[in-house]
Amino acid sequence: MSAPDNQDPRLDQAAASDASLLAAHEKLLGTQPDEKAHYALMPLVLLFAFSGLIFWAGSYLNRYSGHFDAKIFDENALPHSGADVVVKLDPVVLGKKQYEAACITCHQATGNGQPGVYPPLAGSEWVNGSEERLIRIVLRGLKGKVLVMGAEYSTAAMPAFGQVAGSGYNWSDEKVAAVLTYVRQQWGNKSGLISPEKVAEIRAKEAAMKECTQEELMKLP
Ligand code: HEC
Repeated sequence: MSAPDNQDPRLDQAAASDASLLAAHEKLLGTQPDEKAHYALMPLVLLFAFSGLIFWAGSYLNRYSGHFDAKIFDENALPHSGADVVVKLDPVVLGKKQYEAACITCHQATGNGQPGVYPPLAGSEWVNGSEERLIRIVLRGLKGKVLVMGAEYSTAAMPAFGQVAGSGYNWSDEKVAAVLTYVRQQWGNKSGLISPEKVAEIRAKEAAMKECTQEELMKLP
């Protein structure tokens, strides 16, 4: 290493003369960088490259962001089968609804009907007997004399709940099956359920019967 150069004014300020300071300042001022020299136009290649990137990022988000929907980004979401969940009502529950909407006015909440006018369903041999006859009664209605638990009824008529001319009702197989299953399980009745398939089967045979009377019903199994 060589000895410190004492001729250099930066190393020994006391040794600096006015002339050397001025010369140094002049030199510094003279080499002051031009401010404008910092602002150079961005190379066109970069400009295109960045524009391209921004465009690509926008398209990517548009395509794959799922519009930032929380459901789409829920990693814990269970796979959806695609089918809507249909809650199937218990036939007795649906049957009760149907009974209260349509049958209760005549056959009453007790299922005992009204003496001499509306026959009882509680304990009735029609309710607890042949499925085919019972389904026919509800689909086609009933009129004329009918014997229920030893008493004869004939003053009023039972409306039809199937699609029959003159009837305001058009119950589905499911509704007819449900209401009959309900009445076969209420008020101490203990008969089996009536399936919608059975109702459909009887409905298909319906045309064979001209009128729903006790006499016609007794010809059925
Ligand atoms: C407008 C009153 C009325 C309504 C509503 C009515 N019924 Fe009847 N129902 C009668 C009458 C009247 C008879 C007897 C008909 C006859 O005398 O021929 C009868 C007979 C019956 C019978 C055969 C006889 C018996 O007592 O077992 C059944 C079963 C029956 N109805 C079930 C129903 C059901 C189920 C509903 C509702 C879906 C219903 N009825 C709605 C008036 C009604």
